[in-house]
Amino acid sequence: MYQKLFETPVWIQDIDPRGLNLISKNFKNNWLSQTPSSFSQNPEDNEMDEDGQKYLKSKILFCLQDLGIQDIQISQIWRNLYNGDYQEKHCHVNSNFSFTIYEKLETPQTVFEHPAHELIYATNTDQYVPPYWIPDVKENQMILWPSYLKHMVKKSYKSITISGNVLVK
Ligand SMILES: [Fe+2]
Repeated sequence: MYQKLFETPVWIQDIDPRGLNLISKNFKNNWLSQTPSSFSQNPEDNEMDEDGQKYLKSKILFCLQDLGIQDIQISQIWRNLYNGDYQEKHCHVNSNFSFTIYEKLETPQTVFEHPAHELIYATNTDQYVPPYWIPDVKENQMILWPSYLKHMVKKSYKSITISGNVLVK
């Protein structure tokens, strides 16, 4: 009997980015990739009002309730701008789950890496077990994943994303 082991929970959820009422400022060229982003340790660079926080929390909890999770804290949020920009492979630290909301998107750009991708290549099983996954996401959708999943962003144009981190309470 065919079975699957070690599944990774991932959700794709419709969301209206305007509902977050997120105001981002002080964009800088961040990380090795120099991606224009409001990523910052200063919460004043990315402010949401109470309604926006409530809306985002409800969308995330709607997904995480599948794992029996009932309360969360959005620990960090920021905006990324892509106009010929990309992002190198990374994972999100000090968080349990992470999300990306596609505020403007022409073609899917986020590439997730199978946690065992090096072993998959080393054992020539990549034609059977995909080492990468590019989710078929659209504008006004959110993807939510466990923060340990490494991912990158392909060189993209005319794209705006809102990313963030979630702690389970
Ligand atoms: Fe990321």
